[in-house]
Amino acid sequence: MSQKVRAVVARGKNQPVTVETIVVPDPGPGEAVVKIQACGVCHTDYHYRQGGISDDFPFLLGHEAAGVVEAVGEGVDEVAPGDFVILNWRAVCGQCRACRRGRPWYCFDTHNAARKMTLEDGTELTAALGIGAFAEKTLVHAGQCTKVDPSASAAVAGLLGCGVMAGLGAALNTGNVQRGDSVAVIGCGGVGGASVMGANLAGAARIIAVDIDDRKLEVARKLGATHTVNSRENDAVEAVRELTGGHGADVVIDAVGVPETYRQAFYARDLAGTVVLVGVPTPEMKLELPLLDVFGRGGALKSSWYGDCLPSRDFPMLVDLYLQGRLDLEAFVTETVALDQVEEAFDRMNAGDVLRSVVVF
Ligand SMILES: NC(=O)c1ccc[n+]([C@@H]2O[C@H](COP(=O)([O-])OP(=O)(O)OC[C@H]3O[C@@H](n4cnc5c(N)ncnc54)[C@H](O)[C@@H]3O)[C@@H](O)[C@H]2O)c1
Ligand SMILES: [Zn+2]
Ligand SMILES: [Zn+2]
Repeated sequence: MSQKVRAVVARGKNQPVTVETIVVPDPGPGEAVVKIQACGVCHTDYHYRQGGISDDFPFLLGHEAAGVVEAVGEGVDEVAPGDFVILNWRAVCGQCRACRRGRPWYCFDTHNAARKMTLEDGTELTAALGIGAFAEKTLVHAGQCTKVDPSASAAVAGLLGCGVMAGLGAALNTGNVQRGDSVAVIGCGGVGGASVMGANLAGAARIIAVDIDDRKLEVARKLGATHTVNSRENDAVEAVRELTGGHGADVVIDAVGVPETYRQAFYARDLAGTVVLVGVPTPEMKLELPLLDVFGRGGALKSSWYGDCLPSRDFPMLVDLYLQGRLDLEAFVTETVALDQVEEAFDRMNAGDVLRSVVVF
């Protein structure tokens, strides 16, 4: 029996989101229905609302979520009803050439539920990142459910499902920050803030937080930044170079994802350093760089999909660190809100008032 639940839907480009009744089908083979307990508001949800990701409206938003498995379809053995899970948006296939080469975090064929959730009139919804968790219940591929210690708070655990994992992984996995490295992070919202924390966890000696908002820089200090730069008032590249003995940082993470910040990241790194792009650009953005500089500065220009994480490896480990008091993930939860307050939460995110608003059910 399909079920009707309340959910947040973006019906059209740049339109305020609405709370609607949606229809969640029973799980098909390999699928699971999850009762959502908490779901964070991520900038990517806003990108969807603005039509910046695709035109496949209506979108069912929300994707940084934790909850309890309610039902599973045929052939599901990795999770069972009652399991506390974090939802992930890259359920690796195990079969594609990336998976077969032992690099499953690059999986080229990640799984989502095949059955579609719909509006009451039958219109198919596009679930944000194949999750759609600003909903009392959602349907996902069972591989998108990663079981973790149920003593973790859902509001905190859910954040590992996207932004916080992307930011931590941009530093730990993609940037491969090493003990003693210098790291600069441009844009210190939920994602960049987590990169600062990741650099700290890895033992970076110098962690420079760059943002245009002093409030974010203040939070970044609490997350482990050793220096801060307001790039509205100062030249980001000059400032990072000055703070690194004139060289630039070993790893620079762009957690904004616009041409201006990418260019800053490119020039703020040391020769042979690494740039990590974890912020997501929109389709019209273009980048122009002297090709000779790309060659001459050497090093690596990388993008970070989901922090190159492996949910089954990384989520339980990070939840463990959090429960031991070694990773202050609570710091990312600025406020908890109700399902009908997502639009206001977008306003607060855009005004820079929050690191994360989290919808709790
Ligand atoms: N790669 C991934 O897997 C992944 C996952 C989640 C989110 N993202 C993307 O990461 C980006 C950040 O997401 P978020 O949730 O942290 O957003 P956010 O709105 O919480 O944070 C953005 C931060 O960037 C700062 N900023 C904006 N313009 C800037 C500029 N020109 N220079 C310096 N700082 C600037 C803002 O003040 C803010 O602190 C988004 O593009 C989002 O879509 C990527
Ligand atoms: Zn694969
Ligand atoms: Zn996200």
